[in-house]
Amino acid sequence: MGARELGLPERVPAGDDLPARVTIWEVGPRDGLQNEQAVVPVEVKLEFLDRLAAAGLGTLEATSFVHPKWVPQLADAEQLLAGLPRRPGVRYPVLVPNERGLDRALAAGVRHIAVFASATETFAGRNLNSGLDEQFAMFEPVVARARAEGLDVRGYLSMCFGDPWEGAVPPAQVVRVGRRLLELGCSELSLGDTIGVATAGQVERLLDTFAAEGVGTGSLAVHFHDTYGQALSNTLAALRRGVSIVDSSAGGLGGCPYAESATGNLATEDLVWLLDGLGIEHGVDLGELVAASTWMAERLGRPSPSRVVRALGG
Ligand code: HMG
Ligand code: MG
Repeated sequence: MGARELGLPERVPAGDDLPARVTIWEVGPRDGLQNEQAVVPVEVKLEFLDRLAAAGLGTLEATSFVHPKWVPQLADAEQLLAGLPRRPGVRYPVLVPNERGLDRALAAGVRHIAVFASATETFAGRNLNSGLDEQFAMFEPVVARARAEGLDVRGYLSMCFGDPWEGAVPPAQVVRVGRRLLELGCSELSLGDTIGVATAGQVERLLDTFAAEGVGTGSLAVHFHDTYGQALSNTLAALRRGVSIVDSSAGGLGGCPYAESATGNLATEDLVWLLDGLGIEHGVDLGELVAASTWMAERLGRPSPSRVVRALGG
């Protein structure tokens, strides 16, 4: 008999400092597939997205309107959006770095976008061919135009904890750059541990630094990569500080092509197992999600790195 049939995980709420409900921001189709060696056919991406929606995920980051030479894996963004069966109540945000990307996203009928900034000078150069200050000149017209068109705009901030070229990143620097994204008009800020090096104390310190500067957890999300196995404990630390939007990737797919040490994101299945155990609502059917990730792993030709997918027989 499997764990789920035995009623596991047992629901034991761990204190009253946790949110009652968490919004899962699924990034597998974008953050996951952008890092695949092989280009995944658009039909496979579309079926993956629809399986994830059927499993109850309400926010599916679908693709990126970046330069196709920079991320060839997502060069089919237009084709993908044209074929996407949009389910009622599901959001399909896309990444947009600049005005050219916004033009493409608008033409494709997108309603939710995310700009992506770097907290460090080096990664702004590597990922955006820009600089720490210069990146804002690129985002400013994007956010202004998107807002004027009635679009919702998320702001990502990468390298919030450690950077492969610059080492530990000071919280004050992260908060300074993050606040600029919010002041630009982003409705929420997702704090990225792009290379997965953070530990729980750093997460608490960064959230406390934001709070001291007037940015509460209501406008913050967390985005953990699991390179050093810390993503779940970092998530729990963030939940205890009041964060209720968590980014994760079905099956633990993921990475970043411009940060070599980045591996997969926190697996959505591992997150769901934790939330179930804590009695936190999320709206996802774990069995259907595992089936979707297992299906995708078969298409990619290798097993999912998610511990929960493996344990449940994926
Ligand atoms: P650039 O080469 O400096 O661009 O790249 P440019 O403005 O100089 O333009 C050069 C040419 O590219 C022009 O064409 C533009 O039209 C074209 P030409 O006139 O020479 O024929 N171009 C575009 N074409 C299509 N779509 C566009 C676009 N923009 C320009 N959007 C650029 C600058 C920002 C475009 C480039 O650096 C880029 O695309 N970077 C994206 C990198 C990326 O996608 N990284 C992964 C996502 S971030 C991430 O994974 C982290 C995250 O998960 C959070 C975390 O984990 O921390 C979000
Ligand atoms: Mg990422």
